[in-house]
Order: sequence, then structure tokens, then C-alpha cells
Amino acid sequence: MRIGILGCGNIGTFLLEQLNRTNDKAEIVAVYSRNYDKAKKVAASYRTRAYRTIDSFLEANLDLVVEVATIEAVQQTALTILNDKIPLILSSIGALSDQSFLESLKDACYKSQVHLYIPSGAIGGLDILQSANVLKGLKEVQLTTRKPADSLIDGVEMAEEKLVFYGKAKDAIAKFPRNMNVAIALSLAGIGVERTIVKIVADPKIDKNNHTIEASGDFGNFSLMVSNEAMPNNPKTSYLAALSILSSIKEQSNRLKII
Ligand SMILES: NC(=O)c1ccc[n+]([C@@H]2O[C@H](COP(=O)([O-])OP(=O)(O)OC[C@H]3O[C@@H](n4cnc5c(N)ncnc54)[C@H](O)[C@@H]3O)[C@@H](O)[C@H]2O)c1
Repeated sequence: MRIGILGCGNIGTFLLEQLNRTNDKAEIVAVYSRNYDKAKKVAASYRTRAYRTIDSFLEANLDLVVEVATIEAVQQTALTILNDKIPLILSSIGALSDQSFLESLKDACYKSQVHLYIPSGAIGGLDILQSANVLKGLKEVQLTTRKPADSLIDGVEMAEEKLVFYGKAKDAIAKFPRNMNVAIALSLAGIGVERTIVKIVADPKIDKNNHTIEASGDFGNFSLMVSNEAMPNNPKTSYLAALSILSSIKEQSNRLKII
């Protein structure tokens, strides 16, 4: 499988390491990133190629594009990719909090007969929410995210934990675009960005990103807590998020689907 990645930061480099330094059937053959010179350097060390423009990147005969960049990158490129009939895995899921953008991407998928994939990222439990809501019986979903204070608020010393956000998932991603992709993944699997409630706590006493999901409805109720280790070389990105993107790539060739 010929893969193109959009973005070559923490997760992008992790994917290059895991796919291009092994004998995996999936190989990253093209890289497009905001900083071409940096992308070229990274690409050279993983025997792949960096492209200067999104158009030339998309001409690399790709079977799959994996976005590991930013919400803006999704807004700029996702429609073009899907209209070019290339399946797309997203990590900056926050871009889908805009309902009209989401609808335009879904339309492009139907027309092009390709899929847009939303990996579970740094959380889990999306399968439960989807099943629980198949007959619209899911009533309440709340996400409590507790992060090290310095990863949420730059340059502020605090001794005690502080509630920095309480409200709708839609507003959480607007306030924390790099941190709250998980809230939008939850919303898409469950009851949407207007009804999914998010609580964000900055905690100076922890060193892991913790997410607690609580939901209730006709099915009963569930709660799930994920305590994320950071990626070895970057304290701001959860290791599970990178593993989830890698797993979504490997799943493409798997005939047995756990859904
Ligand atoms: N879904 C989840 O649970 C989850 C978890 C962690 C991170 N993320 C998201 O995944 C994305 C990647 O994370 P990361 O830690 O690798 O980030 P990073 O900052 O290390 O890397 C981002 C890369 O994207 C490139 N980039 C920025 N804007 C671009 C654009 N407009 N076009 C093309 N390339 C562009 C940058 O140059 C950089 O190479 C981020 O949006 C992050 O918020 C999602």
C-alpha cells in the first residue's frame, strides 16, 4: 500500500519509523508538510520523497493519505484528497466540528466511493457510543480531560488544579484546537458537538494526559478512564494517539474488522 502523509512532526515521524524502517506492506512514499525544507530532510532519512505542493503530492499514485498535521491542514486539503478518490485517515479531527465542512467531506466520500477514517486517537469507547446510539438511545456523554498544567497553559505557575473549561465539545475544540480532538471524535461517535459535555482540568500534580468518558442511555451506562503516557520524544502528544493512527493504517489490509 502506497501511503502519503500530511505533516511530519511527532506522529508523522513515528509512522515513518514504524512503516519505512520495517518490512511492512504499507510504505510511506510521499510526504507533504508546511515546511518543505524540513520535510525534505526527514524524508531523505526514511527513503521517501517530500513534495513541495499538495497537487504534486497527490499525483504520487497514493492508495491512502494520512493527515498528521493541523486542523488548518485538514480544512485546506481534505476535500481535494477525497475528490481525488483517495481514502483519508485524520488525526486533527477537530476540523470536523464544523457541521457544513463535515457534510461536504461526507458528500465527497459518497461521490468518490472512498472512506474518511476517524481513529480513536488518545481515547477509547467510541464503539460503545456508536452501538448505544444506533437507535438514538444515548442520552448523555461527558468527557473529563485532566492534563499537566503546563501543557494547557503556557508560562503560568499554579499550585492547585484549575477548571479551565466546562461546556460543549464544539466550544472546547475552539478554545483548545491542539488538545481536544478527542472531544470531537467522541461527539461524532455519540450525540454530537452540541450535546457532548467537556470538562478540562489543568493539574500541576500530574504528568500524564488523563481522559475519563462517562455516558448513559437506554443501554445502561459506562465509564472509561485512559491515562496516557506521552510519546518518548514529545511530552505534549499521547503515545496512544500515535499507536491509534498506526493501527488504523494496518487495519486497511485486515479482512477481519472489529467494529
Ligand atoms: N485524535 C487524537 O486523539 C490526537 C492526539 C494527539 C494529537 N492529535 C493531532 O494530531 C496532529 C499531529 O500531531 P503531532 O503531535 O504530530 O503534531 P506536530 O506539531 O509534531 O506536527 C505537525 C506537523 O504538521 C505540519 N503542518 C502544520 N500545518 C500544516 C499545513 N497547513 N499543511 C501541511 N503540514 C502542516 C508541521 O510542519 C508539522 O510537521 C495535531 O493536529 C494534533 O492535535 C490528535
